[in-house]
Amino acid sequence: MLAGVSLGLLLVAATAQADVAAGKARAAMACAVCHGPQGLSMQPNVPHLAGQPEIYLVEQLRNYRSGKRHHEVMSVIAKPLSDQDIQNLAQWYASLQLSVQEP
Ligand code: HEC
Repeated sequence: MLAGVSLGLLLVAATAQADVAAGKARAAMACAVCHGPQGLSMQPNVPHLAGQPEIYLVEQLRNYRSGKRHHEVMSVIAKPLSDQDIQNLAQWYASLQLSVQEP
């Protein structure tokens, strides 16, 4: 009985963990066309996602999904994302490292 409970807790803990590889794969499929293959957008009206803090990305995606933040494209894209998808995507984009050069 106790073993079952702790196994259950372990599984919950494991699924709450972000999976960067899964985030990368999903991003390549669903996001790269606009946000760029490495999170650097080449369209002037689409923001970069690479290197953004995970916590910020998670919040924005949840806001699009819930309707708290509205955008005609992103609201539709975020609708079917699960919490796990959002974690994975956010961690993938947050894991990309940028270097900045001053002019
Ligand atoms: C068809 C083009 C398109 C696709 C595909 C797309 N996005 Fe976006 N995304 C946009 C645009 C345009 C914005 C700016 C929206 C706004 O002004 O709120 C945006 C904004 C965002 C933001 C907010 C960024 C910020 O700085 O606040 C996040 C996060 C985001 N997208 C994540 C994703 C993810 C994750 C995917 C794939 C599941 C995705 N997008 C797919 C066009 C796209």
